[in-house]
Amino acid sequence: MPVPTVDRARLTELYAREERSFEHTHARSLELFGRARRSLFAGVPMHWMTEWAGPFPVFVEEASGARFSDVDGNEYVDLCLGDTGAMTGHAPEAAAVAVAEQMRRGTTLMLPTEDSIWVGEEMTRRFGLPSWQFALTATDANRFTIRLARAATGRPKVLVHNWCYHGSVDETFAVIADGGIASRPNNIGAPVDPSLTTRVVEINDLDGLERELAEGDVACCLFEPALTNIGIVLPEPGYHDAVRELTSRHGTFLVIDETHTLCSGPGGYTRAHDLEPDFLTVGKPLASGVPAAAYGMSEDTARRVAAALPPGPVDVGGIGGTLAGNALSLRAMRATLEHVLTDEAFERMIPLAERFTDGVEEAIGRHGLDWYITRLGCRAEYGFQAARPRTGGEAAASMDHDLDRFMHLYALNRGVLMTPFHNMALMSPATTAADVDRHTAVFGEAVAELAATG
Ligand SMILES: Cc1ncc(COP(=O)(O)O)c(C=O)c1O
Repeated sequence: MPVPTVDRARLTELYAREERSFEHTHARSLELFGRARRSLFAGVPMHWMTEWAGPFPVFVEEASGARFSDVDGNEYVDLCLGDTGAMTGHAPEAAAVAVAEQMRRGTTLMLPTEDSIWVGEEMTRRFGLPSWQFALTATDANRFTIRLARAATGRPKVLVHNWCYHGSVDETFAVIADGGIASRPNNIGAPVDPSLTTRVVEINDLDGLERELAEGDVACCLFEPALTNIGIVLPEPGYHDAVRELTSRHGTFLVIDETHTLCSGPGGYTRAHDLEPDFLTVGKPLASGVPAAAYGMSEDTARRVAAALPPGPVDVGGIGGTLAGNALSLRAMRATLEHVLTDEAFERMIPLAERFTDGVEEAIGRHGLDWYITRLGCRAEYGFQAARPRTGGEAAASMDHDLDRFMHLYALNRGVLMTPFHNMALMSPATTAADVDRHTAVFGEAVAELAATG
């Protein structure tokens, strides 16, 4: 059967219709945006909030569980969940109570609390690594880990997957271009040419990995176990075993960033697939949205790191942050790990993502579109080509900005929020089958409109 492609003129027309509808139902958000522009740069508290589909951002009234409402009284099923920051669902009761209590008992002292030990022990149980430190963001956890890896190996470079994202870590803003290494597009005020700090290989390219590691200057590989920030790109069978073998053979630390792949289960992809990283980093949902992140080390790694630390004070040594490891974050992390992102929660969340995937797949098939969907634990993402991309480069080439924006705005106008900039959906412990079915219905309507001849 010939596969229908999307008619671009029709797409433009439909997007314009959706924008008009959005403006009509978001008058108060528009009003607030106008006011915000007088005191906030670009009219938002963080610049990228202007990049959502639609002519201006939705201003939120409140959020609870897997839903939120906006200042115009519109209600949404939230499948974005703060791009994983709220994978716990919004304001989960156990964390809300714990945070409120801890606010009254002191939030930050530059001294440890007993909660830190409970969290360290729980992280060890989940991820298998015995030695932990805490930061406020996954970006910082990655930055600090890179520094430690450099200190312990005496090597200068970091190796990443093409089209990875690990937060605003300078070394990771590099992509393969014309056979060499170039800055990722829109790398704002890049401190140095990334080819000085970084080697880049495609995920699933073991020959490339071996070639780059053989240069002998790579302190660590910083990898998501599956790419999640350029669509989902899964590792091929045997990939991680080979990565472990090659990094060990070349004396390079293996850092696994579980910030998004925590969706694979309570111990992330690492535990679900028996990976054995030297370092593991994770952030975002760990404390139900209170800023918190962690990085763990294997026993041998911790020993090497300890031996590499300078003998004098290290409080201004490039790793830290005054609020890192604070009492509030740790109390919130404890409540989250103990009561929210539990083993039982994942047993409900993962089947919901399967339900989401089945619904999307059925609609794609029914309308004969050449699109795919990939699932990873309680996360799923669809893309606009027939074959699943095998590498970050292939995934980047298959991005379709206009189609992306249309699908987002269409869903938003019908009460479903998807993760911006791509087409990802995430399930929380509070998400229901009815929430998923709502998306399936809306997705079906969108593709039916796209597939219609006009
Ligand atoms: C895999 C991964 N690591 C790290 C980060 C950085 O997280 P944060 O922005 O909370 O520092 C992100 C953000 O999207 C991410 O996707």
